Amino acid sequence: MWPEPRGPGAPDSEVGPTATRDKVGRGEAPAKAILLGEHAVVYGQPAIAVPLPQLRARVQARFDSKLDDLVIETPGKGQVISLRRDPRQPLALAASLACRTLGLTPSFLRLRLDSAVPIASGLGSGAAVSTAIMRALADLLGKALSPEQLSDLVYEVEKLHHGTPSGIDNTVVAHQQPVYFRKGEPAEFLQLPAPLLLLVADTGVSSVTREAVASLRRAREEDPEGVNRKLAAIGDLVGHAREALIAADWQELGHLLDANHAILAELRLSSPELERLIAAARGAGALGAKPTGAGRGGHAIALVTSESEASATLAMVDAGARRVTLCRVEP
Ligand code: PMV
Repeated sequence: MWPEPRGPGAPDSEVGPTATRDKVGRGEAPAKAILLGEHAVVYGQPAIAVPLPQLRARVQARFDSKLDDLVIETPGKGQVISLRRDPRQPLALAASLACRTLGLTPSFLRLRLDSAVPIASGLGSGAAVSTAIMRALADLLGKALSPEQLSDLVYEVEKLHHGTPSGIDNTVVAHQQPVYFRKGEPAEFLQLPAPLLLLVADTGVSSVTREAVASLRRAREEDPEGVNRKLAAIGDLVGHAREALIAADWQELGHLLDANHAILAELRLSSPELERLIAAARGAGALGAKPTGAGRGGHAIALVTSESEASATLAMVDAGARRVTLCRVEP
């Protein structure tokens, strides 16, 4: 597939001006939260997602002449991924796709991943980590990949996580902007007139996107009309939420999050742990709260103000949250 490696730092084609054997390439990417519309977006409804700049994946890439492989180390987890050993491992695939696009031989490369994005919990960790890997490799060569290129490459990796990704995760993470997204249509990036304050609370229960998506697929096969009606109702809420976001009408946005939560619960995409966190946040003054991402575990989000942020955080911790992160989505 690639030409034989010619030695460390031997790109196939032209290299940017800053590529040297000692250089460290750095790449970062944020987590994401789906504000409204998860799952429905897989079936052609719109959804809105925002980047979470406070939760980031970071990657360093360097050439290593002793390494006839591309290796990704995750020191926090003691994991070492080898492209030779496991080319279909998602992170290895992300790296090899980036190498191919950059014209870089995927060998003699050592990557180190440090990610604060919890995995399997609805915050787009797969997209964040893949994007950070691709950016680090591009930086190593003194090149850049455009957000569109990154988004397309990360989408290929997302297909490994679950067969039918909507494309919203790669889009919001690669562009790092709030997005109104509908599958198959150009993404609309939203300008927020004021910062949006979100609490992101971890249930501690892992949430596997592939399984959650499959559970809804089965429910839809059993009751196509009923489930389609609910998905369309979510789509309507998303349309209103787009208006509320653009107008910074946080009260209205909070009501819309609550309404989306009700439908997700009807579709059995919530969980007792999520319900406890959501009720606690609302009881402590959050404007609205719901599961985010795949659901059935993972994270809840709560829309808060600077006045309610502290009390809602405490309430969610008391209700069992493993961790609550205040995320500020800037205009
Ligand atoms: O759990 P996450 O972060 O992978 O988000 C999944 C979002 C879904 O709408 C459930 C699936 C998709 O492809 O959009």
